[in-house]
Amino acid sequence: MIAYFSAPHKESTMMHDAIDRLLERFPSKGKECLIQVLQEVQELEGYLSDQSIRKVSEYLTIPASRIYSIATFYDQFRFTPQGRYHIRICRGTACHVLGSSTILAELEKQLGITAGNTTRSGMFSLEVVSCMGACSLSPVISINGTFYDHVTLAKIRDILLLYRNREEGENGRD
Ligand code: FES
Repeated sequence: MIAYFSAPHKESTMMHDAIDRLLERFPSKGKECLIQVLQEVQELEGYLSDQSIRKVSEYLTIPASRIYSIATFYDQFRFTPQGRYHIRICRGTACHVLGSSTILAELEKQLGITAGNTTRSGMFSLEVVSCMGACSLSPVISINGTFYDHVTLAKIRDILLLYRNREEGENGRD
């Protein structure tokens, strides 16, 4: 029982230390390096947590509220952890022409979240990206790096069902 509760604490301490080390690489404080710092923090943590933003705020002497307003301006930053299945949907031109906005709306409806968020169960997260480099296969989505091409509304439902069944199967095996 003790080990169960102590592990997340240890993990978060390790994350704090890693972020401290990351920040030390930016001796010139201030706004100039903010975006790069946030990018690196997100790479490390997978998203920008409140705690990390507070750390960055203290270190760069920029109010946290200011950091949030800058970071939310950019699509690249996430403020919730990724789901076990991270869905990327391409909204580049070729995909847009072939209906990616309808696909995005369907994904948001099926998952009950908007892009940039994670389902309450932590199973799925959804991210909008620009061209994924597979324009001839538009519209395209990827889930944990697996590409799905020429997606349609019906295909989306089947793909989500596949992952939901997979998850149920894995939980059933425990
Ligand atoms: S525009 Fe979607 S893959 Fe290029």
